[in-house]
Amino acid sequence: MGRKMIVAGNWKMNTDARSAAALLQQLAEWRAANAGRVQMIVAPPFPFLAAAVEQQAGKEEGQQLLVAAQNCHSEKSGAYTGEVSVPMLASLGVGACIVGHSERRQYFGETDEAVGRKIAALLEMGLVPIYCCGELQQEREAGRQQDVVATQLHTALSRFKPAELARVVVAYEPVWAIGTGLTASPEQAQQMHAFIRAELARMAGGTAAVMPILYGGSCKPDNAQGLFAQPDIDGGLIGGAALNAADFVRIVAMAEETTKAA
Ligand code: PGA
Repeated sequence: MGRKMIVAGNWKMNTDARSAAALLQQLAEWRAANAGRVQMIVAPPFPFLAAAVEQQAGKEEGQQLLVAAQNCHSEKSGAYTGEVSVPMLASLGVGACIVGHSERRQYFGETDEAVGRKIAALLEMGLVPIYCCGELQQEREAGRQQDVVATQLHTALSRFKPAELARVVVAYEPVWAIGTGLTASPEQAQQMHAFIRAELARMAGGTAAVMPILYGGSCKPDNAQGLFAQPDIDGGLIGGAALNAADFVRIVAMAEETTKAA
């Protein structure tokens, strides 16, 4: 069996109750009419997660959207005002969670160690962690991108066994490409994805061959196909283009046309 293709929409701090419901409705209607093998994930803001999960009730697998949070806390409960725990997400039926996004690292001081603890909490409750890594522009200019990404991967993930890593999704998001309109070229992205898979193999052995590695950073309908055609790119983590249902489903349709050998 090949690796699963995944297209995940990170809505960030966008939408409100009404526009989130409308976007979810459009995506669900498209999915119902276009069942497929690609795992379609939506990550709305916390207040809209419950409605997103409820909307998926009773749907068959190929027609379902997997609902993801954009962040979580590593502790199960306690005096952490304003935070959301993994058991809370699990109790709603949320199936996945983005962790380590560069905006969390940049604006909220998240470290690889802290993100590793979040991944442990997610795995313990059976949620899929979507672990974001990627270098800054100045790090790429200095030719240090592989060192940076290797450190991120090993610091957050080396504590896990291969069977646990098999449930982790990695998203490579070069920070210089996020929300900037600059995209890594398919060749640049493939080179890093192959490097990431080799680093994952050092921790997970043969399991690395089945771990999905998504590309993120200004991934849009006009560049997704070229990226998805690369052998180690297993889909995308989409920001801006995920807020437009037509754009997002075009990207999903492109992923449906791609099959990966594992
Ligand atoms: P972008 O965001 O597609 O708007 O560049 C991607 C992300 O931050 O996940």
